[in-house]
Amino acid sequence: MLLHEKIGLVSGSSRGIGKAIAQRLLKEGAVVWITGRERGALERTHRECTRDFGDNARLFEGDLTDPGTIRTLLATVHDQCGGLDIAVANIGSGRSVMGWDVPDQAWEDAMTVNFHAAVRLSREAIRLMETGGSGSIVFISSIAGVESIRAPVPYAAAKAALLMYMKSTARIVAPMGIRMNAVSPGNVLFEGGTWDRKLGEDREAVEGYIRSEVPMGAFASPQDIAGAVAFLASDSGSFVTGANLVVDGGQTRSL
Ligand SMILES: NC(=O)c1ccc[n+]([C@@H]2O[C@H](COP(=O)([O-])OP(=O)(O)OC[C@H]3O[C@@H](n4cnc5c(N)ncnc54)[C@H](OP(=O)(O)O)[C@@H]3O)[C@@H](O)[C@H]2O)c1
Repeated sequence: MLLHEKIGLVSGSSRGIGKAIAQRLLKEGAVVWITGRERGALERTHRECTRDFGDNARLFEGDLTDPGTIRTLLATVHDQCGGLDIAVANIGSGRSVMGWDVPDQAWEDAMTVNFHAAVRLSREAIRLMETGGSGSIVFISSIAGVESIRAPVPYAAAKAALLMYMKSTARIVAPMGIRMNAVSPGNVLFEGGTWDRKLGEDREAVEGYIRSEVPMGAFASPQDIAGAVAFLASDSGSFVTGANLVVDGGQTRSL
């Protein structure tokens, strides 16, 4: 097991990519805080994790775009676990306004959920990790933050900003023993997710898009993303910091 006795948290892990990341960290032996706003989904995921991985799953309910709630989460982790080794900043949303004429509120919403929430979470995580003298922080960005693809501009800009925040801060916190990296997924398919919905709306167009844009000719699974996070969170990635690991089946063209 890669993460035996490590303490981890994953923001937004009651479903989707975050859930798969939490499950993978649990499988690797970590104690993992599963978080989300909706109590029912959170409890279902917690029950599932306890059934599959034993009693290492912890649960925290709250809106992690709220600075006070983020501080409460980190204080709870500190009180109950005595420290933090892994923080995965996963919450984010690609739902925004297309085109150039984007209202201020849409810009603010996209920045809040995709950028500010991750920055705030990592800042509180650094405080806790600094005490222990080590830690690994992983941001979930997107290929929309790496290249210009058919994504809403506020989402793309927020994810790009997150990558530069990661890159710049990684240099500052490296002497503290803290590594910071990002994973940038391509198109991730899971039941109830964005691509599942898009397939329901126009299966032919979406399948054509995947065939023409993704050299590997398929969607990513949440487990594909979780594998990359587990590598970066563990000692297997012990000399990797400031990196952005793109998991996209070859879709992006830049180096
Ligand atoms: N899906 C893709 O194809 C794809 C591709 C590239 C990048 N990404 C990125 O991957 C990340 C995860 O995407 P996803 O598709 O798995 O998202 P998702 O299906 O919308 O799941 C998001 C998770 O976060 C929780 N959450 C959302 N807002 C929250 C908040 N304010 N406070 C606390 N928890 C919150 C949700 O639970 P509640 O709603 O109950 O709070 C849920 O557990 C995002 O950063 C996204 O931009 C996704």
